[in-house]
Amino acid sequence: MIQARHLSRYFGESTGRVKALDRIDLDIQSGDRVGILGRSGSGKTTLLNLLAGLDRPSEGTLEVHGRNLSDLNAAELAQYRRETVGVIFQSFQLIPNRTAFQNIELPLILAGIEHRERKKRVDVALQRVGLEHRIRHQPAQLSGGEQQRVAVARAIVNRPQVLLADEPTGNLDSQAATSITELMLEIVNENNATLILITHDHQLAEACSNRIVQMKDGQLVDEQNLSVGASL
Ligand SMILES: Nc1ncnc2c1ncn2[C@@H]1O[C@H](COP(=O)(O)OP(=O)(O)OP(=O)(O)O)[C@@H](O)[C@H]1O
Ligand SMILES: [Mg+2]
Repeated sequence: MIQARHLSRYFGESTGRVKALDRIDLDIQSGDRVGILGRSGSGKTTLLNLLAGLDRPSEGTLEVHGRNLSDLNAAELAQYRRETVGVIFQSFQLIPNRTAFQNIELPLILAGIEHRERKKRVDVALQRVGLEHRIRHQPAQLSGGEQQRVAVARAIVNRPQVLLADEPTGNLDSQAATSITELMLEIVNENNATLILITHDHQLAEACSNRIVQMKDGQLVDEQNLSVGASL
């Protein structure tokens, strides 16, 4: 489903050039749950940004469903971001002066979904993450765990096949972290989606993944196949 070949992303000019991603080969099957581990600066977010269609590779190819993302024009890439992937960030990235409902509704507006269908889908998503009672709250009026639930709802409201998460529990206390992790796993299972989860936390990666990939200096150095994903 996802195939990276010699995927590279360089930043800066010749002398000070950083090889944030250095010729990565990676194959991810539909329904895989992949944990990506690695030290700070090893290239995890750079890889996720490419997978999310938020950035373009310097060299190599990245194919999703047989389409090379480098071949997509801006409009096609925007459509890919809207429909194929959902992204969850460590810092939630909600729009501050909008309600929970409006934050979740935004991807549907961008996708051109009409008003009544939008309302229906946002209500379902809010219910799914257990926040029906916070529908009119703005991010500052929500706890960290609740904000991340809104972000999860926003990420899944367009029913993406791939859920990308970059340290999704990094800003949460352990209780909120566990419940967000459980929620993501449940949703991925329900939708038979693919999960790619970046974390520093080995235990979290093991609990969530059937595959663990290690990154070091922009390269994949180790892969561990877990026959059964351990539970939390
Ligand atoms: N926009 C950029 N311009 C220049 N260098 C960058 C840019 N983005 C990332 N880098 C560099 O690329 C390398 C990989 O960064 P990346 O953010 O992917 O690391 P990471 O594994 O996600 O780290 P962390 O765990 O701290 O989030 C780092 O050395 C970083 O400084
Ligand atoms: Mg990062």
